[in-house]
Amino acid sequence: MIRFDCDYLEGAHPKILRKIVDTNYEQTPGYGNDIYTKSAISKIRKLCNKENIDVHIVSCGTQVNLVAISSALKPYQGVICVDTGHINVHEAGAIEATGHKVIITKNKNGKITSNDIDKIMKDYINDGACEHMVMPKMVFISFPTECGTNYTKDELKSIYDICKKYSLYLYIDGARLGYGLVSKDTDINTLEDISDLCDMFYIGGTKCGALFGEALIIINDKLKIDFRHNMKQRGALLAKGRMLGIQFDVLMENDLYFKICKNAVELAMKLKKALLDKGYKLLYDSYSNQQFVIINNDKLNELEKDFSFFKWKIIDENNTAVRICTSWATVEENVDKLIEKL
Ligand SMILES: Cc1ncc(COP(=O)(O)O)c(C=O)c1O
Repeated sequence: MIRFDCDYLEGAHPKILRKIVDTNYEQTPGYGNDIYTKSAISKIRKLCNKENIDVHIVSCGTQVNLVAISSALKPYQGVICVDTGHINVHEAGAIEATGHKVIITKNKNGKITSNDIDKIMKDYINDGACEHMVMPKMVFISFPTECGTNYTKDELKSIYDICKKYSLYLYIDGARLGYGLVSKDTDINTLEDISDLCDMFYIGGTKCGALFGEALIIINDKLKIDFRHNMKQRGALLAKGRMLGIQFDVLMENDLYFKICKNAVELAMKLKKALLDKGYKLLYDSYSNQQFVIINNDKLNELEKDFSFFKWKIIDENNTAVRICTSWATVEENVDKLIEKL
């Protein structure tokens, strides 16, 4: 079985495993106070070209989202997000469980627009009973989006501008950040680009070559206050934090993170071209490592003898949309085998 259902199906980049083994018997302080975490943070600061950002590394995506959002918001505040946003559909209510409403607007190819945010804020401000309502205080977006699409610099800038106009924080979920930054449909290509255009974002490791781990970057000073206390209270401060630090220290060395993500996106583009050449219809025009394709159910049953996909959406009684993911570890030979069978 060749698996394409997600991008966390392999272990970790061998350089990470090697470094974990090589440093195994070293004794280091806990909770991220070790030299490897410090080195990772210093590399991330350099790549963002900002010395005064805070970096906290936690173990998974749901955890970083709930810790980051709950730390930023007061009890009566909520977070704006598109209907397809990960915190709305795939985190089992983790954000709501921290006491914060997720305020939904309809996505456009997975994205939110500055107009959507403007409308939500005008509706809120102009409502005579707004004091009785949940106050929108943050906008959550993913880069890439859950549909594999990416924001351009202009789009992100206009979202950030409207956030600043209404004093909203902009938080970017970067579970697949590396795949987004190397995609051809965006001019946001570096950590510096993205860190210029939001208050807080995270660099996804789990799906991009790490065993596990996500590095949260806090740019806005207001959001830095007491952050580690909230992490600790929510079980996100790992005693053996060095395991997280080592991984990001390796990924941020010599552009490894970007190089391995590029492998995934190049193979996804090869697959996308083959799908289009063969007349398949795509659900979204994705330039990242996730492709969403509509397949006739008979054909899908045949393909599923050798390949696995994530069933995304039932289109009608004869057709299903599936998500096909490549990853940092995907080999071209397996993509070629899929293309042949398609
Ligand atoms: C965009 C996005 N954010 C967050 C997560 C949550 O990650 P985890 O499953 O590691 O909690 C995922 C996982 O699929 C994701 O795709």
